[in-house]
Amino acid sequence: KMVPGIALQRKFRHMYRNVNCLAPMVRAGTLPLRLLCLRQGAHLVYSEELIDHSLVLCTRKVNAEFDTVEYVMPGTDSVIFSTCAEEKKAVILQLGTANADRAVKVAIMMQNDIAGVDVNMGCPKPYSVLGGMGAALLSKPDTIKELLTSLVAAVSVPVTCKIRILDTVEQTVELVKVIEATGVAAVGIHGRRIPQRPREQANYEHIKAVRAAIDSDFPIIANGGSLDYVHNSPHLVDFREASGCDSIMMARAAQWNPALFKDGQVKHVCKRELSEQYLKIAMEHGHVFENAKWNVMNLLHFDKDPKRARGVSAARGYQEICTVLGCEAVYKSIPAHKLAKIGRKRPLALS
Ligand code: FNR
Repeated sequence: KMVPGIALQRKFRHMYRNVNCLAPMVRAGTLPLRLLCLRQGAHLVYSEELIDHSLVLCTRKVNAEFDTVEYVMPGTDSVIFSTCAEEKKAVILQLGTANADRAVKVAIMMQNDIAGVDVNMGCPKPYSVLGGMGAALLSKPDTIKELLTSLVAAVSVPVTCKIRILDTVEQTVELVKVIEATGVAAVGIHGRRIPQRPREQANYEHIKAVRAAIDSDFPIIANGGSLDYVHNSPHLVDFREASGCDSIMMARAAQWNPALFKDGQVKHVCKRELSEQYLKIAMEHGHVFENAKWNVMNLLHFDKDPKRARGVSAARGYQEICTVLGCEAVYKSIPAHKLAKIGRKRPLALS
């Protein structure tokens, strides 16, 4: 007989089939970009990686002014995670964790506000690895088992993790089998090894070979195609074919152009218009300006108008940035009492 948690996770597998996802990205994957990507056609949107140590201290607050739910760090007023009803069925909270008890505590506290929880097993940064989190987990199958088994047993939302490829296909297959056996709903695979930089080509053949060796019922989400496939083609099918996976996850390509989630249905994309939509969403949800500006700069990354990019970079507030982008009307459409409440702090570590 199947363990109840595992049986429940089986029922969640369908959520990860044939889907295009916004990959987890620190600074980028905050509420406004997630909503913009959803409105462009993304199926699931991952949060930026949030560390269990800080989430576990947070207090849940409903922000009636903006209709958002916020997880706030007591004493500092920093909003660590903010979400809303529109994304409730699609937002995946990505955790940085190496501790099953803390991960379970956080997941239970937050599960009514999210669509799923994902564990980061790919981040190579010293902060993560020294804390035993992120890519450090890839060489610790026992910790992986403990973490995922505990989450599967305790929570009522889908549990997944995101890994990188290992040295050989055989090693990656072995790791994915360990993960699958914990009962989780799916796994995301970034087709680069730990020391590989984002500029290097991802290894699609490797993902494809892993996909072929794993039970086809277990969903695998391919990641790492932003530079080679997705960015230059509005047709996500190329990346799907190269990786052998029917579900994909985009990070940088989506950060530069969320309209890619329309999957081939748009020929011409207006970055100024996307930036305008982003800013409207950000202001409507009371999103902190500095993070919004950073995201608009990414949206304009390949913009042909350098003057506009310089203006955005110099802007010190929503009104200024809207003026630079010629969308003063969007700024004026936000009620003054709301504008007055925008600008809550973001923790320095994330800024
Ligand atoms: C990332 N990536 C990442 N991965 C993760 O699991 N958690 C995270 O918080 C982040 N943060 C992050 C921030 C930024 C700005 C970038 C560009 C990337 C890695 C990301 O999810 C993805 O695996 C890689 O970027 C490869 O995918 P693309 O960019 O080729 O689509």
